[in-house]
Amino acid sequence: MTTGPTILIAGLGDLGGVCLELLARERWPGRIVAGSRHLARTGARVNLARLGAMAQGYRPSIEAVSLDLDDEDATAELLDRLSPDIVLTTAARQSWWTPEQLPPAPRAKLAAAGFGVWLPIHLVLSLKLMRAVRAAGSATRVLIAPFPDVANCVLARLGLEPTAGVGNLDEIVPKIASLAAARLGVAVDAVDVSLVAHHALETHVFEPTAGPMPPYFLRIVYAGTDVTGTVDGDALLRHPYPLPPGPAIHFLTSGSAVRLMRALVDADTRLHAPGPEGLPGGYPVLAGPGGVRVAPIDGLSREAAIDINERSHAFDGIEAIEADGTVVFRPEPAGIMARELGYRCDRLPPSEIAPRADELLTRFRAYADRYGNGVD
Ligand SMILES: NC(=O)c1ccc[n+]([C@@H]2O[C@H](COP(=O)([O-])OP(=O)(O)OC[C@H]3O[C@@H](n4cnc5c(N)ncnc54)[C@H](OP(=O)(O)O)[C@@H]3O)[C@@H](O)[C@H]2O)c1
Repeated sequence: MTTGPTILIAGLGDLGGVCLELLARERWPGRIVAGSRHLARTGARVNLARLGAMAQGYRPSIEAVSLDLDDEDATAELLDRLSPDIVLTTAARQSWWTPEQLPPAPRAKLAAAGFGVWLPIHLVLSLKLMRAVRAAGSATRVLIAPFPDVANCVLARLGLEPTAGVGNLDEIVPKIASLAAARLGVAVDAVDVSLVAHHALETHVFEPTAGPMPPYFLRIVYAGTDVTGTVDGDALLRHPYPLPPGPAIHFLTSGSAVRLMRALVDADTRLHAPGPEGLPGGYPVLAGPGGVRVAPIDGLSREAAIDINERSHAFDGIEAIEADGTVVFRPEPAGIMARELGYRCDRLPPSEIAPRADELLTRFRAYADRYGNGVD
């Protein structure tokens, strides 16, 4: 008999696998369930996480279950049976790093289109999950890993608001805290960072980049005093901080996800998260058993914070998200995808999310094959 909250990880790819390993080394979860379409493979990952955690002195309760998010009825039944306290979805038709595996020339062409054009392949399974959550009448908290800065806005417009997202701006905050503490010569915990920023900012933060930066708000406080200017917070934000390429950074995302999950079952904690309250971009938040809300930000109104992130959508290639959840893409990125992949999508009404995800994936795979790149 286990006590403590039940966590369901939906989709066990690279990010889900790292989240599983980190969760297995936490003492607060009662039961961790990893759900995937491939039970044998997931069972082996679960065994590895269990034994690794045990070798480290933990005694996690972890199990694997069959989960195909395309089957909404079966997902609703599973939610009903497990009654999870938290669902973390890391399921997507394809990850952010797959196009980065292309040879340099086509990779650069697609990179110029930005990230927003890939929205359907990141959004479609979260949409299906949220429909299943509603169908099950489940009160579970749902955290979205795939592109929450935009996905959560669309889901909210459809009446399917998840609790929040994970990662993204919360991957920038530790970098700033670490550099600011070093500059001040104080402990990291003595430095308090407040950041309002969109997913689109992240590409400018770890490696030097050309081109305009999205707007953001940054405030660094030490010993009750605003030291943002003293430590030159804007320079710290852009200070090169190389990270390994590809999915290795999922340890960073997973750290963010695990801390947010812990707060949801513990006590109100001031953290950062993308997509709270179905809002665009990311914010300082208060996360606790009551949910995740945007926290008050000294020096910035809630409206101004939302405006920063609304304006940032354009830097991810998104012109607007309309009241009915239709996403309007900017002409330049839509044009690149049309030229390169033969995929023309200027508007994405909610009813087209699933077929567009299939089309984009098919066209991308054909494109990758042309370059002799067997990405899968
Ligand atoms: N918020 C952040 O900071 C952040 C950071 C990193 C990644 N991400 C995003 O998180 C997502 C996952 O990234 P990743 O690198 O882990 O991708 P990945 O390795 O491709 O994993 C995605 C998983 O989704 C699963 N999946 C696909 N269709 C499914 C279905 N119908 N039902 C259940 N599961 C299904 C796949 O599992 P099977 O094919 O094995 O069933 C696959 O393993 C992507 O959208 C990525 O861009 C977000």
